[in-house]
Amino acid sequence: MYCDFLLKRINEFYKNVIEVRKNKKHLVIGKSVEDDSLVLTSNDYLAIANHSKILTAQEKEIKNQHNKVIMSAVFMGENTLKGVFEKEMAEYLGYESTILCQSGWAANVGLLQAIAEKDIPIYIDFFAHMSLWEGIRVANAKPVAFLHNNIAHLEKMLKKNGPGIILIDSLYSTIGDIAPIVQISKLSQQYKCIFVVDESHSVGTHGHKGSGLVRELGLTNQVDFITLSLAKTFAGRAGLIACSQRFAGYFPYISFPAIFSSALLDHEIAGLRATLEVIKESDNLREDLKIKSSYLRKELKQLGYKVESQSHIVSIESGNEERTETLRDALEERNIFGSVFCSPATPKNRALIRLSVNSKLSYDQLDYIIKCFRDIKDKNIFR
Ligand SMILES: Cc1ncc(COP(=O)(O)O)c(C=O)c1O
Repeated sequence: MYCDFLLKRINEFYKNVIEVRKNKKHLVIGKSVEDDSLVLTSNDYLAIANHSKILTAQEKEIKNQHNKVIMSAVFMGENTLKGVFEKEMAEYLGYESTILCQSGWAANVGLLQAIAEKDIPIYIDFFAHMSLWEGIRVANAKPVAFLHNNIAHLEKMLKKNGPGIILIDSLYSTIGDIAPIVQISKLSQQYKCIFVVDESHSVGTHGHKGSGLVRELGLTNQVDFITLSLAKTFAGRAGLIACSQRFAGYFPYISFPAIFSSALLDHEIAGLRATLEVIKESDNLREDLKIKSSYLRKELKQLGYKVESQSHIVSIESGNEERTETLRDALEERNIFGSVFCSPATPKNRALIRLSVNSKLSYDQLDYIIKCFRDIKDKNIFR
């Protein structure tokens, strides 16, 4: 049996988080998905996860047992599949080098550990991804949070605290809005900061051949580091940092996730290389995604739902947990499944239901979703 201090924590969790819910489950868990459910929870925005080129590349590499090496990336040279993919990604993103990591989480935590210091202010957008906050914590550095997408507030903080590191997401995974990257980049230059942009949700979907917003905006010289989760449009399980060549030679021997956690396996990297090719060729899917997302956003807003999205992440801000549960249940009764985002991913009273649009949703499916949201409004189930 556990000691009292742990028992107390576990019991409080069940009492305050689970037992208060109607179905006695966590708020993020509702009904089970059926075969015919409309599931809008996946980050595979271009719907390419099952593309035959990707599956074939993985399968071919799995069968190639000769070079199978299981170890930390710190021991790997350039003449590996990892090195080849890193070069391809550097060219794609417009940087000298990239570093392949085990996840977006490992990329952000590892990066902050390698660049942040105790007395350097780390300016971070309130809505930036938790992995960036965790990186600050691990680096024992000082977070200076600024209001979401608020340039004036960031400048006020910069004036007060001086040069440091600025951390933002390009496209926010919660409400789906886009950062004012150009203006923040100007402030970063003016106040002599290091500028880090997490492009997890915009690489693959935005910019020329999907190469992201930083490149599209001509900011690769101003943004010192791009970080990525390759578990979004890349539909894999990995992360990446785009950086200078000299930094790429320093990071593997400094960052704990790089030293003390094993590298990706070659079949995973082979899949990612094939995915990069598929993504580059997918202008039609990107265009579809843009048009379909914009259609859904517009219709939901017209119905009076609170949607601040500017992208394929179409979130309906539902407010407190009770209201979120009501909306979730109403949607699931109509066989529509989104992701519930609640504390600690959002502030407690700003929970939301996130619908991740993908390129292959049909207009019939989109119209069905809109019809259900209208029905929920008309019946006063959620106001
Ligand atoms: C903006 C952002 N950065 C980083 C991550 C972490 O990525 P991963 O799931 O690959 O660890 C996520 C995933 O939720 C994310 O949305």
